[in-house]
Amino acid sequence: MERMGSDGFPIQRPRRLRRSPRIRDAVADVVARPDDLILPLFVSDLREPKPVASMPGVNQLPVDAAVSLIRGLSARGLRQFILFGVTPPARKDERGSYAASPEAPVNRTLAAVRQAGLDVLMYADLCLCEYTDHGHCGVIHGRGETAAVDNDRTLEVLGEVARIQAQCGADVVAPSGMMDGQVGAIRTALDQAGFGEVAILAYSIKYASNFYGPFREAGEGGMKFGDRKGYQMDFRRSREWRTELEADLAQGADMVMVKPAATYLDIVHQVRHACSVPVAAYHVSGEYAMLQAAADRGWLDLKPTVLETTYAIKRAGADLIVTYFADRLLDWL
Ligand code: PBG
Repeated sequence: MERMGSDGFPIQRPRRLRRSPRIRDAVADVVARPDDLILPLFVSDLREPKPVASMPGVNQLPVDAAVSLIRGLSARGLRQFILFGVTPPARKDERGSYAASPEAPVNRTLAAVRQAGLDVLMYADLCLCEYTDHGHCGVIHGRGETAAVDNDRTLEVLGEVARIQAQCGADVVAPSGMMDGQVGAIRTALDQAGFGEVAILAYSIKYASNFYGPFREAGEGGMKFGDRKGYQMDFRRSREWRTELEADLAQGADMVMVKPAATYLDIVHQVRHACSVPVAAYHVSGEYAMLQAAADRGWLDLKPTVLETTYAIKRAGADLIVTYFADRLLDWL
């Protein structure tokens, strides 16, 4: 039988701790801080910022504009940024060579941030899809029906790109191409070049998601043919994350990422409890676009909805969150 208090109400009255903002703040136990956030930036060779239509509020930025943005945001307390490069079609080729050029916008931005002496943590996304003419995340063999990403040839290119990113000033490289063995190959390439201190944030658990759609406009990295299901994970499998996690940890991943975030909270939670390295979750372009589009129509109130989503990702167990809302969250948290 339920125990009653002298007033006739049950002893367990959870509403006691919800009575006022003071008491709610006192008992809230999930914390989200600006230090948890990583803002993705799209850097390009353009002279002017160019809005990304499917991600209202997000722009492709020239290098100098990206550097001033990073300077301004870091002064306000946002200290982590991850860079993606936008490559003009004329610079794309079969093996994504431009990624390894010091002239590529990601590499120039890294160098400029270091030159400016900004006290920020710079992550470089490490994948070929923004640099290949076919748009896949690795080097391709065959075309059409039989086309497939050549895993091991891709590893060589990734090692080369990682070295350049490290040389230009990346603190962390973040391989997102889902090639088998990529973490080990990149670790070896970095160590051999004397970059033993550069960390690897592995996109270990990355699903073949439909929520990457807007990113492919932003990064101009859509595929010319096929899809990414041959290398990214199948969302119908619930245990495969462990295979990917164990492989990347064995190869030396310093931190791991789950991607997408809000539609994969079960996975974030399990990964958090299955390892001791920091866990990042990527609230991806489509997840951003849904919230922003609904808010732009007046169907959702943006600030509380983004806060709720961010706390949900933290509650699931993410240490770090990559989010296009990171700059606005600075004011909202
Ligand atoms: C590149 C990469 C993608 C994203 C991050 N790195 C696209 C993809 O895998 O197709 C998606 C990020 C987002 O949607 O915000 N491999």
